[in-house]
Amino acid sequence: MKNIILIVLLSFMFGSVAYTKDAISKDITVYKNPECGCCNKWIKYLKENNYNVTEKNTRNVLAVKKRLGVPEKVAACHTAVIDGYVIEGHATNRDIKRLLLFRPDVKGIAVPGMPIGSPGMEQGNTKEKYNVLTFDKDGKTEVFVKH
Ligand code: CU
Ligand code: CU
Repeated sequence: MKNIILIVLLSFMFGSVAYTKDAISKDITVYKNPECGCCNKWIKYLKENNYNVTEKNTRNVLAVKKRLGVPEKVAACHTAVIDGYVIEGHATNRDIKRLLLFRPDVKGIAVPGMPIGSPGMEQGNTKEKYNVLTFDKDGKTEVFVKH
């Protein structure tokens, strides 16, 4: 009986270690205008990358951006929230994961504008160069990743 308890305990422990290792959140809420085509494409991309997407359609995405502290100068179309961070625009799965792993002291990351070649903004093989920025509570931005 003692052995069984030990095995159960051990497997639970190792199980939770494995869990911590990939405990990066996949639950994301996306605020968007219902007519936004590229937003829907980005959501499709997220789902293909195993995110659990909650879609919030709103006619006033701008108000959401304001409430969540997205600086106007980095605004794109949709605004998302994942694990306490704000994701503005067409961010890649990799950059979202990088943010959730390193957890910098910022409000979130933004892909300003709508760069061609970012997820949901594909146009053949065309890839525009663009920077992913972090933004903090004062609206200060810094380059997070260069694409
Ligand atoms: Cu868009
Ligand atoms: Cu969008």
